[in-house]
Amino acid sequence: MRNNDNGATIEEIKDRCNIVDVIGRVVNLKKAGINYKGLCPFHNEKTPSFVVSETKQRYTCFGCNKHGDVISFMQEYYNMDFMQALEKLADEVGLEVKKVSRPGGEKKDELFEINRQAARFFYKALREKPNPGLPYMRERGLDDETLRVFGIGWADGEWDSLRTYLNNLGYSDDKLKLVGLVSESNGKVFDKFRERVIFPIQNTSGKVIGFGGRAMGDAMPKYLNSQETPIFKKKNNLYGLNITRNEINKEDAAILVEGYMDVISLYQAGVRNVSASLGTALTDSQAKILKRYTRNIILSYDADEAGINAALRGMDILKNEGLKVHILKVTDGKDPDEFIKKRGKEAYLELARNAVPFAEFKLDNAKRNHDLSTVEGRIDYLKDAAVILSELSPVEGDMYIKKLAKENDISEGAIRAEMARRSRKPERAARADSQVRIPMTNVEKTLIKVILTDASYLDRDVNYNKLFKTPSSAGILSAMKQVREAGEEIDINKLEDIIDEEDVRSLEEIRRDIKLAGHTEEIFAECIRKIERQELRARESELIATIEMADSVGGAEKMSELMKELSDIQRELNVRGK
Ligand code: CTP
Ligand code: MN
Repeated sequence: MRNNDNGATIEEIKDRCNIVDVIGRVVNLKKAGINYKGLCPFHNEKTPSFVVSETKQRYTCFGCNKHGDVISFMQEYYNMDFMQALEKLADEVGLEVKKVSRPGGEKKDELFEINRQAARFFYKALREKPNPGLPYMRERGLDDETLRVFGIGWADGEWDSLRTYLNNLGYSDDKLKLVGLVSESNGKVFDKFRERVIFPIQNTSGKVIGFGGRAMGDAMPKYLNSQETPIFKKKNNLYGLNITRNEINKEDAAILVEGYMDVISLYQAGVRNVSASLGTALTDSQAKILKRYTRNIILSYDADEAGINAALRGMDILKNEGLKVHILKVTDGKDPDEFIKKRGKEAYLELARNAVPFAEFKLDNAKRNHDLSTVEGRIDYLKDAAVILSELSPVEGDMYIKKLAKENDISEGAIRAEMARRSRKPERAARADSQVRIPMTNVEKTLIKVILTDASYLDRDVNYNKLFKTPSSAGILSAMKQVREAGEEIDINKLEDIIDEEDVRSLEEIRRDIKLAGHTEEIFAECIRKIERQELRARESELIATIEMADSVGGAEKMSELMKELSDIQRELNVRGK
């Protein structure tokens, strides 16, 4: 007898699809013995360590350890939840997933339905009664077809027309509040969107998850958006993607813009592989979503400072997901909407073809921030450039080193030396992975132990803030000061109440493992000496690197200044001894 529960259906779906076909669509798989091998889609690699077994219907990556079955592959690769993955696979093999009610699923369906009704209400309002929204949209160049495709509507100026309409359909105020269509103040419930052109926001399944409302003229705020609700998570969605994703897939490139109107204008002009990040900083999860459709992203943000900064942040997020990023800068008007209206599709596509790779954009930007007519400016520019270049793959990096060396008339060696120096810096590793805390140094631990033993050391004329450099030691220091300033005894239990959890562990270690052998006063003095010496050494190597660069940028005067500081430091180090 057929098992009638959900499990049987999952197995049935899995039975019908071959993992080699499913993965083979997105990963170039080669037969290797009885298995298939390819480059792992979950981490960057040059030699294949991603193995797919046809007999076991499982995949394993020996590089990053990701492994699982066809469903978990879909989840991971396309950033789907279990049910979405299952439904997609089922759909492909012509099966239907047995509907089971997911907890909360029913409630969500109702919220989607409320939004759908609201979108219809707004949509009709734009067309059926005279309103300022329609002429405004026309004046901004949108035709009827575009208004239809994006479902653009109008929220009138009444305080409760939508609320009344939805109440009459049987939806309670509580539900309307939950989806953010009404607000409540002093016991009065009223429509949130009033006197605004409405842009419904849909997820990739076409469900209306939220709204954006554009004020008329200069009314504030210019855009009002739905708040986060059980069905609207800004960080997980991109505006317009439900309409444009096929085009993105077909063009194998996505143009990412900042605003609603940018998406809509480009689309109407015939540039249809476009989407927007909903006016917030781009997120990892949006990058993952884009990756389902293409690996090539063209960032086309506003031409102003804010747009440039948003692009700089956005490109790092995209790079981290393994996407290829180019930057398009509009040369007329403040944003893609204005540009394409003034100059047309072909001119915009020309800009897209000439979009610069992200490293070049970053280098240009670093250049803009420095005064290259001074030696200091040129050195600082090279330091920034070294940071940018050390984030690239060796091949890419090499290309830019050559270019940079040539353009600035400096040696490739000086750039490489600076890059090598940068990559040794511990802060870099810490930034790359915020999970990892820089461990405290032994000197810091000893110093903390000294203070724990005798709190009066905190009152010494010593700049502790400068001595405690790592986040943990700085955190513990500030906790110790807090307790001391409150006039209380410094004891570990009190500290542990106010410091981070990771620091609690460090503190326990200090208590247990650090033994002060000898006179506290001598140990204290030795710690200070050691830290000062470390600082001098760090400055020494910084100076050496800078001098190499100053040499390459031809700053004779600057050179002698640096040399003087270097020899002072080296003399000081000599005097102090080992
Ligand atoms: N945005 C927002 N809230 C605001 C301002 C902006 O959510 N108060 C978001 C919107 O998604 C907007 C995008 O940020 O589309 C870009 O903002 P901006 O450049 O200021 O607006 P434009 O898109 O140029 O708007 P318009 O063309 O309608 O003036
Ligand atoms: Mn605009």
